Amino acid sequence: MRKKITVVGAGNVGATCAQELARRDYADVVLVDIIPNYPQGKALDLNQAGAVLGYEPALTGTNGYDETANSDVVVITAGRPRSPGMSRDDLVTTNETIVSSVTREVVRQSPKTVIVVVSNPLDAMCHVAKAVSRFPKSRVVGMAGILDTARFAAFISQELDVSVRDVTAVVLGGHGDQMVPVVSATTVGGIPIAELLPKGRIRKLVERTRLGGGELVNLLGTSAWYAPGAAAAQMVDSICLDQKRVLPCTAYLEGEYGIDGLYMGVPAKLGAGGVEDIVRLKLAAEERKMLRASAAAVRDVVGVLKRK
Ligand code: NAI
Ligand code: 2OP
Repeated sequence: MRKKITVVGAGNVGATCAQELARRDYADVVLVDIIPNYPQGKALDLNQAGAVLGYEPALTGTNGYDETANSDVVVITAGRPRSPGMSRDDLVTTNETIVSSVTREVVRQSPKTVIVVVSNPLDAMCHVAKAVSRFPKSRVVGMAGILDTARFAAFISQELDVSVRDVTAVVLGGHGDQMVPVVSATTVGGIPIAELLPKGRIRKLVERTRLGGGELVNLLGTSAWYAPGAAAAQMVDSICLDQKRVLPCTAYLEGEYGIDGLYMGVPAKLGAGGVEDIVRLKLAAEERKMLRASAAAVRDVVGVLKRK
């Protein structure tokens, strides 16, 4: 039987994610948005693209939630994106209201689903979705680490003029400017990057990664969508197809990495049950310190939520 995936928010990230998933052709995809006719139009266009690209027209666009019933996975991209000069955290109040109402509707129709949160500020919005859904921590997970890791990997591949396929990058922590690119675990063809690049160059790549979202906002006037949409779809694959991939995800920590009661980016095993395990990496002392600073920054944002 085909799987069912709902993507809430038919804007840039949601539509890109929906198209990535449609192209896989293993699931029916429901696209939800509050703008009248908009998700319907997106679904129609994406279905017609199937005739060119070779997938079945299995997308439905809607302004309600009836069509989302019994989804295997729900991706929440609803909310405002960043504009230039705005940090992800500036979005907190607006997007808390949106993510709360979306989560309430989603859970009513799909009480057994796994929720993948994308809306920003990501770590805080995961807290909102978990609090409103009352789901176990395994069934509410956030997308950020695949994106941040992809950016780090892309910069390294360009710097060394090697295929990005042979770069294994690791980024932990919150999805903010204090995220932690883990240099000690980042390799090219199995060789640690510290053996391939001088410290100063690595520092510059780390800094560019941490500010990678802002770099795109400044160029585009809004936040990125191709890499984010593809990253969310990769998480959906791992859950829907029970692939048990170990991917950088925003997961609820209860003591792992010395952090308790907080959503943070860590490597996690994603399968049919959602987050099935959290992988513990050995970190250098400096990286542990950076992770604590990142956790403190996430706690500050979570602190301003109405509902934690
Ligand atoms: P967008 O503005 O293109 O799309 C957002 C869509 O959400 C709009 O179509 C809007 O009508 C819809 N929406 C608003 N309230 C809604 C509600 N109550 N119910 C249903 N739909 C609703 O924005 P974009 O670029 O797609 O970004 C979406 C979110 O994802 C933003 O918060 C952005 O900051 C975040 N983001 C997160 C990333 C991550 O790594 N976690 C990466 C990129 C974006
Ligand atoms: C990004 O990192 C803004 O979170 C968004 O592109």
